[in-house]
Amino acid sequence: MIITNTRTEIEQIHALKPIGFVPTMGALHDGHLQLVKASKDRGLYTVASIFVNPTQFNDPTDFEKYPINHERDIEALKSVGCDAVFIPIVDEVYRKSDDTSKYKHDFGAIERVYEGAHRPGHFEGVGRVVHILFDIVNPEVAFFGEKDFQQLAVIKMLVSMLKMNVEIVGVPTVREKSGLAMSSRNERLTREQKKKATLIFECLTWAKNEFGKQSNNLITVEVAKRFRTDQEWQLEYFDLIDGISFLPAKDDSHSVRAVVAAKLGEIRLIDNMKIK
Ligand code: PAF
Repeated sequence: MIITNTRTEIEQIHALKPIGFVPTMGALHDGHLQLVKASKDRGLYTVASIFVNPTQFNDPTDFEKYPINHERDIEALKSVGCDAVFIPIVDEVYRKSDDTSKYKHDFGAIERVYEGAHRPGHFEGVGRVVHILFDIVNPEVAFFGEKDFQQLAVIKMLVSMLKMNVEIVGVPTVREKSGLAMSSRNERLTREQKKKATLIFECLTWAKNEFGKQSNNLITVEVAKRFRTDQEWQLEYFDLIDGISFLPAKDDSHSVRAVVAAKLGEIRLIDNMKIK
């Protein structure tokens, strides 16, 4: 596996082979490895990146505490046959000589609801770094987890707005046996908190069951009540949304998704589930 921190080495690869790209911020878990496997299964030369992108963190503590373990990540990538990994420093991604306006995008309403509303500037930062990474890696296909469902929608929008020749593939969320969605942030949960965190999956599956039997409003009110029973939880949102527009789901919505974000102590967790 090629391990590099320079743009030039990655640029040399893309001149030769069709690339499947898996951008990550490291602290890799099985969810990330499924993205690499999905790329390998398509027969693509697979490049992963590990870059904790400062421009997408609205909370400085979250950025500072983001777990980093390059050695472990490299071993994990090797174990699933990843072909190359790009681990740049900040100045290699955000070069002083670059035209910053080229990478600044407005995704409209979708950027201002749910994750966008709770993390101002987050999607602008994601759009910016993904655009730069796509320019460097020049992938044919790029793979993203469905766990970050709104991020996936934003990236699809980026590609369509800029008419980029990149296929975006969403890969289903990988869960622990308990139902907890795999996330790099889970590393910061205590054992006790990990048990409590299953409430998210319980509420999502309950909502999926109840959907159509009672009103969406009653479902969300009941979920909020469940989160209030433990003071360590702070629910940011739980909603049933139209999976395309990200507006509240209506009776005639073809695709419905339950989306949730909640803080357990200091750790912010997000998840979602296809309802219809
Ligand atoms: O999902 C992530 O890990 C990040 O948001 C991404 C897509 C790598 C951009 O920094």
